[in-house]
Amino acid sequence: MAKITQELLTWYDRERRDLPWRAAPGQRADPYHVWLSEVMLQQTTVATVKAYYRKFLSLWPTVANLAAAPQEQVLKEWAGLGYYARARNLHKCARVVVDQHGGHFPQTEEGLRALPGIGEYTAAAIAAIAFDVPAVVVDGNIERVVARLYRIEDQLPAAKKPIKAATKIITPERRPGDFAQAMMDLGSGICTPRNPKCLLCPISGMCAAQAAGDMERFPVKAAKKQKPIRRAISFWLEHDGHLLLERRPDKGLLGGMPGLFSTPWEERDTFPEKTEWADHAPATSAWSVGNTIAKHTFTHFHLETKLATAKAQTRLNIKGGFWHPISDMEAVGLPTAFAKIVKLAK
Ligand code: ADE
Repeated sequence: MAKITQELLTWYDRERRDLPWRAAPGQRADPYHVWLSEVMLQQTTVATVKAYYRKFLSLWPTVANLAAAPQEQVLKEWAGLGYYARARNLHKCARVVVDQHGGHFPQTEEGLRALPGIGEYTAAAIAAIAFDVPAVVVDGNIERVVARLYRIEDQLPAAKKPIKAATKIITPERRPGDFAQAMMDLGSGICTPRNPKCLLCPISGMCAAQAAGDMERFPVKAAKKQKPIRRAISFWLEHDGHLLLERRPDKGLLGGMPGLFSTPWEERDTFPEKTEWADHAPATSAWSVGNTIAKHTFTHFHLETKLATAKAQTRLNIKGGFWHPISDMEAVGLPTAFAKIVKLAK
């Protein structure tokens, strides 16, 4: 075993974070727990994931329980975590594991990769952590640690290849899951993007960037592109304490999630004028457009929304729409983009 690997595992035994999905030292983690946590952690921080992870396990203690749940309920519990395709795939994956694998997760990277929502990283992480397969696990934290250890000069994303090759060399046959999680803990707490705490690092003596004193230069990244701004009008139609919501189509952004009826989210310099938004309103009414702007940032764009409000005479039957009590908005499970708009209206 490489000296780096040895030092890192010894450090992990002493300093490992106590996280709800991790097994006690020396014990194997439950594959269902590992899979659920890894899918949640794909684009979300550990701090945010903890509460969602506990809630999901309390609602659905086994993969069979999750598979048996209605998709709508899974999406509702996912509300606020973002990247909702993850939730739809999570549910699909649970059903495939139950229907086609007897309720047991495949134990190889290839087998895992064939499942909905499981890509290269997640397959490697589950194989290593749940099944002790010496898979090469590289997430954002590990990328940074390895790029610094070897001062990898290539720019991301091209650097991914040499980073993976270097990670493979230091990944051990024994305890590959602990090794991966040790690297994650090191990246998250010590080998941080800014001001890395090299004095506390168990492998700083073997780190090329630390020796050169230019740790923060790695991983080398291309300059960030500016995100465009999309602007839209959302429609708040109210009747007798109830609000009109829509269930968004399964495909596309926030697919399957509830939200307010809105104009298309288009990149533009100004908000749509009445002549432009009237056709998108869910009903003809005396709409009044407010001045406050709700802002939300997605991966590829900023969204700015103004609200058009109106009162309906009755609870109109509107295609794709449903009425919900305004006093109980928490129960809907709105994605954050819409939760912000609703907060602004209230
Ligand atoms: N990020 C992704 N997977 C993780 C894990 N198992 N432990 C800590 N952080 C993680």
